[in-house]
Amino acid sequence: MQNKNIVITSNTDNTNNTKLNNGILMPLLGLGVYDMYQNEATQAVETALEIGYRLIDTASMYENEKEIGTAIKNSQVKRADLFLTTKLNNTDHGFEQTLKAFDASLKKLDQDYVDLYLIHWPIKEGRKESWLALEKLYQEKRVRAIGVANYTIPFLEELKTYATITPAVNQIEFSPWLFLKDELAFCKAGGIQLQSYSPITRGQKFNDPRLISLCDKYQRTPAQIVLRWHIEHGVSTIPKSSKKERLLENFGALDFKLDAQDVILMNTFNEDFRICDNPIQFL
Ligand SMILES: NC(=O)c1ccc[n+]([C@@H]2O[C@H](COP(=O)([O-])OP(=O)(O)OC[C@H]3O[C@@H](n4cnc5c(N)ncnc54)[C@H](OP(=O)(O)O)[C@@H]3O)[C@@H](O)[C@H]2O)c1
Repeated sequence: MQNKNIVITSNTDNTNNTKLNNGILMPLLGLGVYDMYQNEATQAVETALEIGYRLIDTASMYENEKEIGTAIKNSQVKRADLFLTTKLNNTDHGFEQTLKAFDASLKKLDQDYVDLYLIHWPIKEGRKESWLALEKLYQEKRVRAIGVANYTIPFLEELKTYATITPAVNQIEFSPWLFLKDELAFCKAGGIQLQSYSPITRGQKFNDPRLISLCDKYQRTPAQIVLRWHIEHGVSTIPKSSKKERLLENFGALDFKLDAQDVILMNTFNEDFRICDNPIQFL
């Protein structure tokens, strides 16, 4: 399907942000930078910032924090207008190791702070101590918000038994084909903002005929329809692309709406389809 003429909306006002449980704003649509390296990563982030993206999601594991930092320094966007996330690597769990890993990430990013620091995976050994270290970083105002990733309900229940701060964000794999409605309801009820990764299934479900008929109805691309479904649910989403046309296309999810009946229809697409590992293995 051809790209429509996409109207680019600015993400610097509150319209496309969600308010986290500590009052800070986070964009509903951002750029994920997994699987981009060196110049490709720097270029993609510079282009995304020019287009209007204000949320960048990286991780120590992605081995591109330095390049992301370079792109931020090169851009005209004020740091205060940007929402930067990075994550604790699985190999760095434990209280002291987490503090060290955070310092190392900041150094690579060449930043004084990040907006959001996440535990990347709920690794059994050390996840409690790592969370307590994140709380310390938050209390020392070295990070504006702390959260988790891949924490399905049992992990969030366990976290409640020792956390003194409620995670601001839980980043999980989520899409119409992996509609984790219980996780969504649990997070909403508990004041935790859900953020979806692999939101467009890396394109693997773009041939779903039910999706194609919605593309025809709205005259939008598969990625735009799917990303809009996340936003209609109030879920922040971080599709990855290193191509300018797709960065523009994906950003176009901000400038239209889906009818409520179509959101409900897409909720029925679920088939427990996953791109990444099921975190249940860490229980
Ligand atoms: N917390 C975690 O454990 C975790 C796990 C996985 C991912 N993440 C985060 O979530 C982000 C997004 O997830 P993801 O990268 O797994 O999957 P995704 O965003 O669903 O899909 C990205 C893939 O789709 C392609 N693509 C992007 N826009 C497209 C479009 N409009 N049309 C067709 N193809 C398109 C990209 O290729 P091109 O680059 O060639 O355009 C890339 O191969 C990651 O980058 C990362 O930041 C977090």
